[in-house]
Amino acid sequence: MSEATALTPRSVAFSAVRDQVYMIFPNDLNSNETVFGGLIMAHMDRYAAVVADRHAAGVCVTASVDAVHFMAPARKGDVLVFAASVNRAWNTSMEVGVRVEAECIGSTERRHILTAYLTFVAVDEQGKPRPVVPLMPEGQTEARRFEEAQIRRDARLKHAEEIKALRARS
Ligand SMILES: CC(C)(COP(=O)(O)OP(=O)(O)OC[C@H]1O[C@@H](n2cnc3c(N)ncnc32)[C@H](O)[C@@H]1OP(=O)(O)O)[C@@H](O)C(=O)NCCC(=O)NCCS
Repeated sequence: MSEATALTPRSVAFSAVRDQVYMIFPNDLNSNETVFGGLIMAHMDRYAAVVADRHAAGVCVTASVDAVHFMAPARKGDVLVFAASVNRAWNTSMEVGVRVEAECIGSTERRHILTAYLTFVAVDEQGKPRPVVPLMPEGQTEARRFEEAQIRRDARLKHAEEIKALRARS
């Protein structure tokens, strides 16, 4: 990759994943007859990893998950629909947002099942962090997600500093 290409910001659309479906089967259910949350989280991590790898044009690892919000249960007969996109990129890390909806077979109605925010870090052959290209948000929604991602990053760094300071005192 040339230096100019390396520095060229990428759009959200360049790496976004849309409308990835997963049909729920009986063995995907927990004892409460709703979909096992860990199954949804595993899929969310895979799709988010594809998004991060595309944006960074190489291997990325999941560094952390800031939040996983289960909004409503998914059930037998549902089809899960995954969407994932980069919200913001910093030096070597990116935040990827994931939204999961469920549609009941035979209905066009969709329910919001999950929203999550994951941080990925681009790594080189030695597993060391390497720089990623900036993100170029377009439109109001992408601009809002871009700003919100910075709030989550600031909170994460502040939290890490506070824990570090507390441990240093004890
Ligand atoms: C993620 C990892 C590469 C970071 O390495 P590191 O040497 O600690 O990295 P640094 O402290 O230099 O930070 C590098 C970047 O990672 C970010 N980062 C590090 N730890 C993080 C965490 N827990 N949460 C979010 N971001 C994190 C930093 O904010 C920094 O971002 P920036 O460059 O955009 O500012 C390393 O911790 C790792 O390999 N973890 C295991 C990942 C893994 O196995 N995931 C599951 C399977 S994919």
